[in-house]
Amino acid sequence: MNDPRPLAVVITGAGSGIGLRAARQLAERGHRVFALCRDRRRGEDALARINASAREPARLVLADLAELDGLDAVAASVVRHVDHLDVVIHNAANFDQTLREPRYTAAGHELIWVTNHLGPFRLTAALSGLLRAAPRPKVVTVASKGLVTMPRIRIRFDHLDGTGWYSPTRAYYHSKLAQVMFSLELASRTAGRVDVTCVRVPAVRLDADRLAGMPRLLRVLYAPKNRLAASPEDLAATYVRVTEDGEGRADGAVRGVYVDERGRPVNVPAFARDPAARERLWAVTQAAAGNPSWAW
Ligand SMILES: NC(=O)c1ccc[n+]([C@@H]2O[C@H](COP(=O)([O-])OP(=O)(O)OC[C@H]3O[C@@H](n4cnc5c(N)ncnc54)[C@H](OP(=O)(O)O)[C@@H]3O)[C@@H](O)[C@H]2O)c1
Repeated sequence: MNDPRPLAVVITGAGSGIGLRAARQLAERGHRVFALCRDRRRGEDALARINASAREPARLVLADLAELDGLDAVAASVVRHVDHLDVVIHNAANFDQTLREPRYTAAGHELIWVTNHLGPFRLTAALSGLLRAAPRPKVVTVASKGLVTMPRIRIRFDHLDGTGWYSPTRAYYHSKLAQVMFSLELASRTAGRVDVTCVRVPAVRLDADRLAGMPRLLRVLYAPKNRLAASPEDLAATYVRVTEDGEGRADGAVRGVYVDERGRPVNVPAFARDPAARERLWAVTQAAAGNPSWAW
């Protein structure tokens, strides 16, 4: 594959799974990677693995997406090192099935909703000035193929934080539906100025230490899925492809906002097709995320 233009890339959840492999592949290809992790020790371990084969050493930035008020400082620590940002990849997510009851942050947000939706929204706003300074800025979000099994899923505008309908699985897919809608709405609000891609990730093998930390019953349930699942390296290659899309790669363009692991357009969940619902979600998210300013 040809050498791409070096890009400045922020990726969340770079300490494990797909995010770790994507950070490593991006740094190997000469991109300037900001590896966002929430835990210093795990982050430093991950950074050593990322930089073992890096052409351009990545930087670790500590970021907890559930702590919205800390995300401006996260963006500020990226600003110290670059004058523009080409790509932000919102890979991190909470899909902890042991959260049988909703858990709330000190600011009152349900943990899965804030980590998987409000956090990426607020971080995008915080980075929007840097992104605007790039020649071809890109925002990449991550949804889940599991959404196809839930044709009736909708945004629970009545109780966004889960009251009355919560299960960890429902909360997870609710937040992923929100990511699809955020991506479509951002693409429409920034038409021609920002490339937005939401990658629909299929079942992917989890890291062994992730599995080992699960209760026995969950480990048993995950075992067959893990055997059949795609490798995190393959999905990381998808993120790299999306990151470098438009930079003269030979393997064809990523076609559309909502795409599968090969960059092919896929059907948007029914609820996400409603422009009024997307606008409404944007408005309530903007308020819940603390009314951040946007550079576009
Ligand atoms: N694996 C699958 O089968 C599958 C299927 C569909 C979609 N996906 C999506 O693919 C993406 C990557 O998942 P993965 O398979 O690579 O799993 P993973 O290894 O568990 O990665 C998730 C990452 O998110 C981070 N994270 C969780 N809460 C966070 C917070 N509050 N602040 C910052 N970071 C946080 C985790 O960091 P810690 O190490 O600190 O916990 C971890 O590095 C996710 O968006 C997931 O929803 C995965």
